[in-house]
Amino acid sequence: MTQQSIELIKATPHCGAEVRGIDLAQPLDDATVAAIERALSEHSVLFFRDQSLAPEQQKALGRHFGKLHLHPAFPDILDGHPEIMVIRADENSKRIAGEDWHSDVSCDPEPPLGSILYMQEVPTTGGDTLFASMYAAYDALSAPMRGFLSGLTALYDGEATYRGRYEGMKSSDKPYPVSEHPVVRTHPLSGRQALFVNRIFTKRIVQVAARESDALLEMLFRHIETPEFQCRFRWAPGSVAFWDNRCTQHHALWDYFPQRRRGLRVTIQGERPYFRA
Ligand code: SIN
Repeated sequence: MTQQSIELIKATPHCGAEVRGIDLAQPLDDATVAAIERALSEHSVLFFRDQSLAPEQQKALGRHFGKLHLHPAFPDILDGHPEIMVIRADENSKRIAGEDWHSDVSCDPEPPLGSILYMQEVPTTGGDTLFASMYAAYDALSAPMRGFLSGLTALYDGEATYRGRYEGMKSSDKPYPVSEHPVVRTHPLSGRQALFVNRIFTKRIVQVAARESDALLEMLFRHIETPEFQCRFRWAPGSVAFWDNRCTQHHALWDYFPQRRRGLRVTIQGERPYFRA
């Protein structure tokens, strides 16, 4: 284990950086792990090129940052590796995973800290992923709106999203997760506030009337899509993206049908979101 010195190339002012000079398949020493954690904290999503990861290596990589999360409902799991989701689309797909703005599995009582997606096969063009900084989204709101939202909570529901959504998915005999989380969450490391509501999972703001909740959520979902908060990652075979699920949202583009795209994702367990003024 030797310390790997890394170079960072920022993608956009608000989020994303490409990390150079690191081989993620090698065992990482504590200093290199700490450097990746610092870079993630500063840029919210990290991109790595030209990697070659066996499933055990990808799991070992994820475990440097926490215990691995098991998805409550995703049907396409790599054989023999319950911690690895197969993210794929081809000519037979009816839907793809993550095809709208979201924070992964934010319906869980303890939503993931982050996800590491390793891409293996890409279309000739297309299949990019958009990422957006939820710090930037929160900071861009007016002070009265920030004050109003802070302390509100919302229901994040997995059933509407997962039931019958994916090819081959059976109706689950265990309940889909539903959780109440803050609309604005405080990042446990940076202490910064991030907008947490998202189009895939957030169904209802608890403290206001249903019509008010619908209008507020629609306003926030549109606000989150502001291009200035975003970066866009163009994948190649061997690309890896590591995103902080607590302060970003992402949106997978499906503009390449009927071509194929395939990657493997490990997800890192997180903690219950909270808001601290
Ligand atoms: C996801 O994990 O939400 C899908 C991301 C992607 O396929 O780019």
